[in-house]
Amino acid sequence: MPHASATHRRHSLFRPLLLAVAGALVATATLTLPHLTPDASAATTLRGYADGRGVKIGAAVGDGPLTSDGSYASVLDREFNSVTAENAMKWDALEPSRGNYNWAAADRLVSHAAAHHQGVRGHTLVWYSQLPSWLKNGGFSASQLNTILKNHIDTTVGRYKGKIYAWDVVNEAFNEDGSMRGSLWQDKLGTGYIANALRWAHAADPAAKLYINDYNTEADNAKSDALYALAKQLLAQGVPLHGIGFQSHFTVGQVPSSMKANLKRFSDLGLEVSVTELDIRIPMPASSAELAQQSTDYKTATENCLGVPRCAGVTVWGVSDRYSWVPGTFSGYGAALPYTESYAAKPAYTGLSNGLNPNA
Ligand code: G3I
Repeated sequence: MPHASATHRRHSLFRPLLLAVAGALVATATLTLPHLTPDASAATTLRGYADGRGVKIGAAVGDGPLTSDGSYASVLDREFNSVTAENAMKWDALEPSRGNYNWAAADRLVSHAAAHHQGVRGHTLVWYSQLPSWLKNGGFSASQLNTILKNHIDTTVGRYKGKIYAWDVVNEAFNEDGSMRGSLWQDKLGTGYIANALRWAHAADPAAKLYINDYNTEADNAKSDALYALAKQLLAQGVPLHGIGFQSHFTVGQVPSSMKANLKRFSDLGLEVSVTELDIRIPMPASSAELAQQSTDYKTATENCLGVPRCAGVTVWGVSDRYSWVPGTFSGYGAALPYTESYAAKPAYTGLSNGLNPNA
């Protein structure tokens, strides 16, 4: 009996410890379960389908909603396996005065993504727009600008080395007629700035896929022809160009019929292709017929990429209509994203999901 009571006492002493360990194991298993054995609901999220196909389904993320709107973050983390900073990695946001970087919002997104098993697309290193005034109005010579650009790329790509799987190195370099768009870079440095930017970015993070990104290049047209010619030339010169981003800011009912064939010709060069900024705007108020057409359009645009070899994935330019850039830019248009302002999944969500689901 004494023995029995000693054993009992020993058990009583260890019991809380054993319970705590068991509890921790259960909690860990519960937390990690969705990643180890995706259940039916995980498989039917957008990211569940995308993971199954080895592609990315991304969303552009604003720092404001990410830090202040729990519903936004929970939809983002449930549905998307990739994020793009909607604004936080643009030059004016990152380097508002020369050599003084403000990393806070970009860092927040990169660590949020790591915590939620999301990849990060970097957007964007060289663009004519969103330049800080010290740079735009600095009156710099060509050689000074080269140094400034190289420093910005070295610093930014270097900071996130290994954490960003693809960078939009050059954004919106062309006019609609296929000529090079006038910009601080083009005007002072000539088209050679593109090859230099790609080389500098590659040196700073050799594992990141480096993209040229543009809009109105989804169809076979003068602008995409010029982009195609430049891509071919850069590859022939051994420049580290790995992908082409097709922004895909569409109007309802107007996904270009040549989109898939156009993406395929870039893929046939050995390049990745990605839809990088998909949204489909509707004249407001949106009718149910327009919302149904938008659903079809989301499916078609998604399939146009995933149906092409080397499609790396699709990113939508926002999560919910609550924060879309569309109404502020296209007067009278809106409802461009897969979720309503109150986070109800729209028909567009189903279209996007069906575009990702190979069995739909
Ligand atoms: O951060 C300032 C804030 O300090 C200020 O108080 C406020 C007042 O207007 O402006 C804020 O900056 C705004 C920024 O978004 C962040 O909200 C800019 O004015 C506004 O112009 C900027 O718009 C962004 C736009 O690019 C220009 O950078 C949109 O959110 C963003 O969706 C849009 O994204 C672009 C892609 O980068 C490239 N392709 C086209 C796409 C849509 O235009």
